[in-house]
Amino acid sequence: MEPFYITTPIYYVNARPHLGHAYTTIVADSMTRFNKLMARETFFLTGTDEHGDKIVQAAENNNMSPQEYVDGISAEFKALWPDLMCENDDYIRTTEKRHVKTVQDILQKVYDSGDIYFGEYGGHYCYGCERFYTEKELVDGKCPDHQTKPEYISEKNYFFKMSKYQDWLKDHIQKNPDFIRPERYRNEVLSLLDSGALEDLCISRPKSRLTWGIELPFDKDYVTYVWFDALINYLTALDYPDGENYKEFWPAANHLVAKDILKPHAIFWPTMLKAAGVEPYQHLNVHGYWLIKDTKMSKSLGNVVEPLKMKDTYGINAFRYFLLREMSFGQDASFSEEALVGRLNADLANDLGNLFNRTLSMTHKYFGGEVPTPVNEEIEDAEIKKIGRDAMKTYQAMFDEFKFSRALEGLWELVRGLNKYIDVTAPWALKKENDMDRLSTVIYVLLENMRKIAVHLWPVMPAASEQMLEQLGISFDPRKVDLSKEIDVWGLLESGSTVDKTSNLFPRVEMPEPEPAKPVKEENTDKKSKKKKKADESQNGEYIEFEDFTKVDMRVGTVLDVEKHPDADRLLLVKVEVGEEEPRQVVAGLADFFSPEDLKGRQVVVVTNLKPRKLRKQLSQGMILAVKNGDDMQLLTPSAEVSPGCKVS
Ligand code: MSP
Repeated sequence: MEPFYITTPIYYVNARPHLGHAYTTIVADSMTRFNKLMARETFFLTGTDEHGDKIVQAAENNNMSPQEYVDGISAEFKALWPDLMCENDDYIRTTEKRHVKTVQDILQKVYDSGDIYFGEYGGHYCYGCERFYTEKELVDGKCPDHQTKPEYISEKNYFFKMSKYQDWLKDHIQKNPDFIRPERYRNEVLSLLDSGALEDLCISRPKSRLTWGIELPFDKDYVTYVWFDALINYLTALDYPDGENYKEFWPAANHLVAKDILKPHAIFWPTMLKAAGVEPYQHLNVHGYWLIKDTKMSKSLGNVVEPLKMKDTYGINAFRYFLLREMSFGQDASFSEEALVGRLNADLANDLGNLFNRTLSMTHKYFGGEVPTPVNEEIEDAEIKKIGRDAMKTYQAMFDEFKFSRALEGLWELVRGLNKYIDVTAPWALKKENDMDRLSTVIYVLLENMRKIAVHLWPVMPAASEQMLEQLGISFDPRKVDLSKEIDVWGLLESGSTVDKTSNLFPRVEMPEPEPAKPVKEENTDKKSKKKKKADESQNGEYIEFEDFTKVDMRVGTVLDVEKHPDADRLLLVKVEVGEEEPRQVVAGLADFFSPEDLKGRQVVVVTNLKPRKLRKQLSQGMILAVKNGDDMQLLTPSAEVSPGCKVS
């Protein structure tokens, strides 16, 4: 059997899992299931990346040792995947012994062959980004991401001779057009390779600066750093170099990443493999970002979508379907609950759900729930069969190339075609005319096509697919399916078997109501006394942890513009610059105390990681801090002007 090996990036454990991680892992799971149905032997790997400065800092912020800290977050990632119906074959952590050994073996091999050397390097180091910046990359002498001044560090380190493999890599990419896909990323990498000489890669950190890493086997004073550690996980998990899995699944590897880590995967990794004498992987598959209202999801913007919340609200089937259907693989896509609800109602409830409901209930009404035996085939039947063959062909071809949106669009030609087929053949009229032969054929054509649809949907919506098949009286075993044969085979659904009466897999859902605005009100005495009680309680021991406090991200912002809220007298729409690309809009209950002119140009403190919400139809992306003093209100503001975006701590 043809082997298929798929990997996700190993995720950093300095942040909790969000929609972006969930998407990549769901894609990997769907691809694995698809390849299983194509009768291929599969191996699906995910895991966590646990070394480096960022992790040490995150552990310190949480008052934990690095090991304690990474154990906690890694376990959280691991536990999420079954909830999202992702069935990985292995879960790798870079702090595991097996990985440390593989990294050290490969480092030694490359060192022995002369491709690792000791040299001096000086540069502007940003601790936030964990990387060196060149003079040119800095903006006003500061890190463009963190707006902090990097430290100039000059130190001796080990370097990998990546430059040596530039021509080989270019040639390899040119000769293998689907080595990096979609094409736009292949072109991006080729133009990067064309634009100048590839630099050698610094692969170590002195232990005096970082100990949380894998020790170099040829120098005990250094640890290896980031990519030379992380990328090798893809080999460790296969038991490189002697394991059975390595022999079976390498180089049939499909790496899956978002565009943020294109360069390490497209340039560092193949050259590292070449230097270690390992064949290059087969494909690098690169997807775009999930955006929230046109901005990349990020923890500091407070616009992170929690995958479990989506799953709990809309169900795992609809969530997975939406992610695969909505994003054109390779391009960015916007996530919104409105769009999810829209797809759920249109594609799943209306098209697919209706087809199942109508057909199952007609089978009960006209045949007591038994699958009828088809009789003669007529023109409409031949037509819908052709639509089915084309739909399945498109689906399989597109899925194979990671083009999920087009694959599903293709399959829906059949779903919609069948709904039309019901309208055209009008089974209720056939029953009235007592044309039972024709009615048997029509119902059989519908049920057999529904079986095909359900099988094809298993990679995307495993649970729903199995339930649909169960409703059709079929017990499903993926190992017995050969999807490629489904295109031409007809009649696997057995006449005489029984089907369920109804199917309610995809009920329509309503968009959740936005939380109503809370008008700024004078507190009544009752509330005041409750508040006082709360304050007393907290002094009696109900403290919050330091960690809770650090969850609140407060930044100084400069007010650029202020308008009155069109529908609420007490609210103002404040445009405030907090050091990001775009200013934010905050809806603030300040209109009773400040005119727009009072606020313009002032510096305020903004809570920036509050979940954005609509207040009387206006989006509020944060909260401005103010102090109430009797009937008066004062703003919290720094004692001297600071750059917008500075963190309050
Ligand atoms: N640890 C490295 C990867 C090492 S692989 C040898 C890393 N980790 S990460 O936690 O930052 O994960 C990045 C990956 O998470 C992306 O490549 C992508 O798979 C996923 N995503 C994170 N945010 C995302 C979006 N907003 N949109 C889509 N995918 C995103 O980089």
